[in-house]
Amino acid sequence: MYVVMVASECAPVAKAGGLGDVIFGLSRELEIRGHEVEIVLPKYAGMRHEDVWGLTIDYHDLWVPWHGDAVHCSVWFGYVHGRKCFFIEPHSDEGFFDRELMYGYADDVDRFTFFSKAAMEYLYKVGKRPDVIHCHDWQTGLVPVLLYEQYGHVMPDQRVCYTIHNFRHQGLTGPKELWSTQLGRPDYFLDRVRLGDDHSFQAVNLMKGGVVYSNFTTTVSPNHADEARYGDGGDGLGPTLSTHQAKFGGVLNGVDYDTWNPEIDPFIPERYSAEWIDGKYAAKRRLRERLWMRDTYSPIVAYVGRLDTQKGVHLVHHALFYALEKGAQFVLLGDGLDKEINGHFRHLKHYLNDNPDCHLEVGYSEELSHLIYAGADMLVVPSMFEPCGLTPMIAMRYGTIPVVRGVGGMVDTVFDRDFSDRPDWQRNGYVFHQADNAAVESALERAFGLWYDHPGEFRQLMLNAMRSDYSWARPGQDYVNIYDHIRHK
Ligand code: ADP
Ligand code: GLC
Repeated sequence: MYVVMVASECAPVAKAGGLGDVIFGLSRELEIRGHEVEIVLPKYAGMRHEDVWGLTIDYHDLWVPWHGDAVHCSVWFGYVHGRKCFFIEPHSDEGFFDRELMYGYADDVDRFTFFSKAAMEYLYKVGKRPDVIHCHDWQTGLVPVLLYEQYGHVMPDQRVCYTIHNFRHQGLTGPKELWSTQLGRPDYFLDRVRLGDDHSFQAVNLMKGGVVYSNFTTTVSPNHADEARYGDGGDGLGPTLSTHQAKFGGVLNGVDYDTWNPEIDPFIPERYSAEWIDGKYAAKRRLRERLWMRDTYSPIVAYVGRLDTQKGVHLVHHALFYALEKGAQFVLLGDGLDKEINGHFRHLKHYLNDNPDCHLEVGYSEELSHLIYAGADMLVVPSMFEPCGLTPMIAMRYGTIPVVRGVGGMVDTVFDRDFSDRPDWQRNGYVFHQADNAAVESALERAFGLWYDHPGEFRQLMLNAMRSDYSWARPGQDYVNIYDHIRHK
């Protein structure tokens, strides 16, 4: 099969979070299974060029219709750790991707509407005719709409799979926005949305367009598919998902087992595995040295992730002080688009500067994240909602025990050591349910109790976590089945 991924991220060249990991890992898995995969991305000025091999111009004369005119684009080609990637570079006055960050600008909807249109125009112009186009999140929700409304006559056999990684951001805009791409009346994805107290504002919802027009829509875990359809996890899209439920389902993400693998990880001091776990203690020592933390007999609790209300940052804050109060150490690596939240953690870093039992790093570092996953004992993930949650899955791969809130995909991946109904060997972490300080405390207290009082049992829990299988093998097959299904419909 020939699959083209159209997305706003791909790890590690352009990654803001888990979406990037998924684009890379799923593409690699599909290739291992013998399928041909190409990835189309924006050419961000700030992308990590060191991760692209052999970057050259693939097509220099792409003219993308836009606001009744056309924007000249170049398309670049390069390999990202073996994956074939095409980068679209618009030469427009707005400098859509010629900016420091990937997201967080007032014209984000404009930028990614343009990218979706440019990606479709590129496929059409150079004669690429994939069996399946797989697009992701609100940024490329317009791709299936464009395929069916504008390119159907020239690409009649192409099918689209649409994956929603986060319902919180749906790409809302005024109906006018679509004129830029010359789409007609977009009735299908007009939405009544609430702006303040006014419920009558009519918006275009790019994500809704993706659901309505795609041949199949997935979200990134079975439990979150239920939350989205039946609960409020769909952030208003629940009724649309119910209407289209015959073509909607949850597929649990995998973790790329080559990128995240303590047996070959270049960012940790000694390699280790479930059979030979001592290297993990070398990573713990190195982590302390690197972050100027004291060497002492205590567990290290970590947080790695975006600093965003989604992640329950107020509970992360509480977990930090609770861990310190209980004699544990705490490491945080996080970054976000919210200036206030970033500022809060920067302030905290300053306040705790002289404390040798914690370290806060407000920023992004792929390399440090590997050392933290390996060197910490526990990873706390107190999210308010979490469609999948890759960080606990990665942590487990390194024998680091996840302490998570039981929401979204974490219900499908983390099984409580004390209360799960799973057999003992499948229990791999700690789960709490309420979104409050007391719940975080009691889960951490159980984890600390095992660490201090029953080290042999804690070690067994680490082995269970390392042996939990969250590779792409199973979800890779699930996506192949979905692609096959939509191709033959
Ligand atoms: P989300 O996609 O909501 O951000 P996930 O848990 O699915 O959450 O994935 C987060 C991914 O981003 C993981 O690979 C994690 O290691 C990485 N990540 C998040 N924040 C940082 C950071 N500040 N530095 C390095 N890696 C980060
Ligand atoms: C999202 C979600 C996260 C998920 C990731 C990859 O951004 O917040 O839960 O793991 O995408 O699908």
